Amino acid sequence: MTPEPTAEISSVSTAFTEAFGRRPDGVWAAPGRVNVIGEHTDYNDGFVLPMALPHGVRAAAGRSRHARVRVLSLQEPGAPVTVELDARPGDVTGWAAYVAGVVWSLRTAGYDVGGVDLAVDGDVPAGAGLSSSAALECSVACALNELFGLGIEPVDLARLAQRAENDFVGMPCGVMDQMASVNCREGHVLFLDTRSMVTEQVPFDPASRGRTLLVIDTHAPHRLVDGEYAKRRAACEAAAATLGVAALRDVALDELDTALARLDDATQRRRVRHVVSENARVEDVVRTLRTGELDEIGPLLTASHASLRDDYEVTVGELDTAVEAALSAGALGARMTGGGFGGCVIALVPRDRADTVVEAVRAAFSDAGYAEPSAFTAVPAPGARRLF
Ligand code: GLA
Repeated sequence: MTPEPTAEISSVSTAFTEAFGRRPDGVWAAPGRVNVIGEHTDYNDGFVLPMALPHGVRAAAGRSRHARVRVLSLQEPGAPVTVELDARPGDVTGWAAYVAGVVWSLRTAGYDVGGVDLAVDGDVPAGAGLSSSAALECSVACALNELFGLGIEPVDLARLAQRAENDFVGMPCGVMDQMASVNCREGHVLFLDTRSMVTEQVPFDPASRGRTLLVIDTHAPHRLVDGEYAKRRAACEAAAATLGVAALRDVALDELDTALARLDDATQRRRVRHVVSENARVEDVVRTLRTGELDEIGPLLTASHASLRDDYEVTVGELDTAVEAALSAGALGARMTGGGFGGCVIALVPRDRADTVVEAVRAAFSDAGYAEPSAFTAVPAPGARRLF
């Protein structure tokens, strides 16, 4: 007998049944993320430290007899989108490309994915840099993995979801967001070496220390995101080639000055300084968290922001204003999180200062004529899983 869906999954399950005339075979969930530190390091083979959010995407899915994919989204009006199983990059645009891309990625890797119906429902704030696309990709990837008995291990599943985004959607992202969505654990941040793909679950419980990790969504419209992201990536690759290393990960902090002296291009020098120093900051944060000295990560977060602002040049006025206002109001550390050019800031704050910090950011935004920001407390949530 099929179990009754719980309230958490009933809306997506009901939408599936209404559209496709039968119950789904199962419902899978995959989360969005915030990155605590390690920004723009993942495509340089470096270190990252994300955690999963309680926000995510739920995918109700069922195998079908037809050789095609039908998918509806509760966030998008209209009938289900139908995609042929052999759709190629360029054939599908808009939100359904993330779903079609996962099917394409699995099939081109040799996995036998057949006809499938899907309903997806998400609550990751859109355009906030909290990985709503990775959550969508990974919820669908997990559903297909189980529905078709593919037996794909989590790390490979994350890589296949990344490939969907790189080669089907056309966004040259690293692997952090998909790894976070698939592999994060409740109560932990995920320390990931994006070269070896070795992970360590590091306990992270600010509340037990009287601290709160605030996520402040600036609501700044994402500007130039994809093009500027690709440019940053290209600059890093060019610098690595000049330095004769496989990736900037191979430049150690104590070799930084020598490496910089070998680069003629001033922009490349700034990009390299960010990536090399950021990798070192991730390792410092992890060491600090292991010793339980939570407050000591604050200055490292703030230094990361300065580096992203001055050397990597991916912040905008809203991000800088939010960080400055949070720090002035008593945050122990604050930084932009995600790709930049808009999106969110995280701030580590004493719990009894949280409201004051949010108010201070609101006031600063109002003074600057920016749209009103919103905020929530981030508590590390579980990674992708089957809900029923
Ligand atoms: C985006 C990408 C990630 C990563 C971050 C920056 O979120 O999807 O792969 O590069 O930007 O750290």
